[in-house]
Amino acid sequence: MAGAVYQPLDPHYHKPSSKSHGCFLSKPITAWLACGFLSLAILHLFCCSPADTPQAMFSPLRQYINNTYSFVSSVPGGGRSCNYSVGNWVKAPGYGRRYNATKCNAKESHDCIRNGRPDTGYLDWRWQPRGCPLPAFDAGAFLSAMHGKHVAFIGDSMARNQAQSLICLLTASFPYRLLYRDEGPRSFNFWRYAFPTHDVKVSYYWYPFLVKATGKSLDDAIRDNHVHLDQPGDRWAADADTFDVAVLAAAHWLLNGAIYYNNSEVIGAHNAPPELNYTGVGYAWPLKMAYRTSVERLRSSSSSPERPRTVVMATFSMSHFDGKPTDDPTACLRTEPYMDGEVDNEWVFREVRDIVHDEAAAARARGGENSTLRVEVLDVSKLASLRPDGHPSLYMRPNPLANGMPERMYSDCLHFCLPGPVDTFNEILLQILRKKR
Ligand SMILES: *[C@@H]1O[C@H](CO)[C@@H](O)[C@H](O)[C@H]1NC(C)=O
Ligand SMILES: *[C@@H]1O[C@H](CO)[C@@H](O)[C@H](O)[C@H]1NC(C)=O
Ligand SMILES: *[C@@H]1O[C@H](CO)[C@@H](O)[C@H](O)[C@H]1NC(C)=O
Ligand SMILES: *[C@@H]1O[C@H](CO)[C@@H](O)[C@H](O)[C@H]1NC(C)=O
Ligand SMILES: *[C@@H]1O[C@H](CO)[C@@H](O)[C@H](O)[C@H]1NC(C)=O
Ligand SMILES: *[C@@H]1O[C@H](CO)[C@@H](O)[C@H](O)[C@H]1NC(C)=O
Repeated sequence: MAGAVYQPLDPHYHKPSSKSHGCFLSKPITAWLACGFLSLAILHLFCCSPADTPQAMFSPLRQYINNTYSFVSSVPGGGRSCNYSVGNWVKAPGYGRRYNATKCNAKESHDCIRNGRPDTGYLDWRWQPRGCPLPAFDAGAFLSAMHGKHVAFIGDSMARNQAQSLICLLTASFPYRLLYRDEGPRSFNFWRYAFPTHDVKVSYYWYPFLVKATGKSLDDAIRDNHVHLDQPGDRWAADADTFDVAVLAAAHWLLNGAIYYNNSEVIGAHNAPPELNYTGVGYAWPLKMAYRTSVERLRSSSSSPERPRTVVMATFSMSHFDGKPTDDPTACLRTEPYMDGEVDNEWVFREVRDIVHDEAAAARARGGENSTLRVEVLDVSKLASLRPDGHPSLYMRPNPLANGMPERMYSDCLHFCLPGPVDTFNEILLQILRKKR
């Protein structure tokens, strides 16, 4: 079963499989259940086999089914609340093999399988929150929950990573149309898909500071970022009245630094060249202001009791260069997650994560009890911190080791492979969106 990485888990999967991988690999669950020898085997597993019969051939499948369906069957009907932010990754063979990223126009640099990443063990894990189940992603449930709605992702390349994951999860099971995509080098930075069966739209807006910015974020040849903390990003702000759900994710570019403005006047900087004499403002305060300006823009437009809007603030997803230079080819070569408590890396993300929680609480307080803006936190910091194995690493390009291990080569130890751990962000997002207020 080499290369058997594409296994839609979605019970609504209904597209005919273009390639015949046999009945198990690329057909709907119902279809492969109907496949003779497997359904017999499965029935055998569930009803008739004593616990210890030699079933070596089926044991990974058995474990897979056990893990997957004990969770699929416990999908809460909405309303149950659960803290997904703490837990552990538990072994679940095949669980993460959710789609083929080549078919959903993911960035080539995140399509680790196409790029020849040889180990696939990073796809064999399921996030187990402490004390409650996290159901597998269900594209039908997502689209039903979002019927008639527009879901917008706004932020940095981690927001994009998650947005692309969602597109892959949805397009693997449902028909779609690409409504627009910017031309040229920005083609991954501004796009919108439609899912006509449920009248759902999903958009992505590249605003790594959330708010308006010029300089490096638009043109990599420019050294500095000029960031207007009082002005929401213009392209998303122009569309904000159409959003029902806005997922915001930013922090990496603010940690890196910028020159900050209010009312078009410089008010300070972080990491700017010292000879410019700007007042240092750190990263925490600008990060809060960027979230605040964005949330208030989303509040001010047409949200109403009839059409409430949800803002989901995603927390910081740390990288795993582990102190090595980004061109060290060994920067992130792990092939297994960390177990909770195995490493102490919480100091990397704790402060930035807490800022997002604080800003969410402040935004709720500003809205008061009858606010038509619902503010939620998608806290992925912990689960992401445990996945050094889930990044593209050298496989951000095709066949990186064709000429042996190079002395210097850039690794991506920040974004996640698609499919990969970032799909779990969307599993949690689905539960947040299904939850009643
Ligand atoms: C099936 O799941 C149960 C409960 O989660 C677990 O105790 C058991 O070990 C699992 N069996 C296999 C074969 O993975
Ligand atoms: C979730 O768990 C974390 C860690 O125990 C805790 O800090 C946080 O307050 C919890 N969140 C909620 C909403 O209970
Ligand atoms: C993914 O899809 C592409 C394009 O259809 C195909 O060439 C490739 O073999 C598929 N990969 C896997 C692992 O199934
Ligand atoms: C910008 O200036 C206005 C007053 O002109 C002030 O109310 C606001 O808090 C300032 N915003 C930031 C991000 O500094
Ligand atoms: C920064 O301050 C120094 C010392 O006061 C001064 O000589 C220099 O001209 C200033 N630079 C700028 C860009 O204002
Ligand atoms: C919220 O709505 C309730 C019911 O309409 C009303 O009684 C209450 O005064 C409102 N609270 C605020 C702060 O507006």
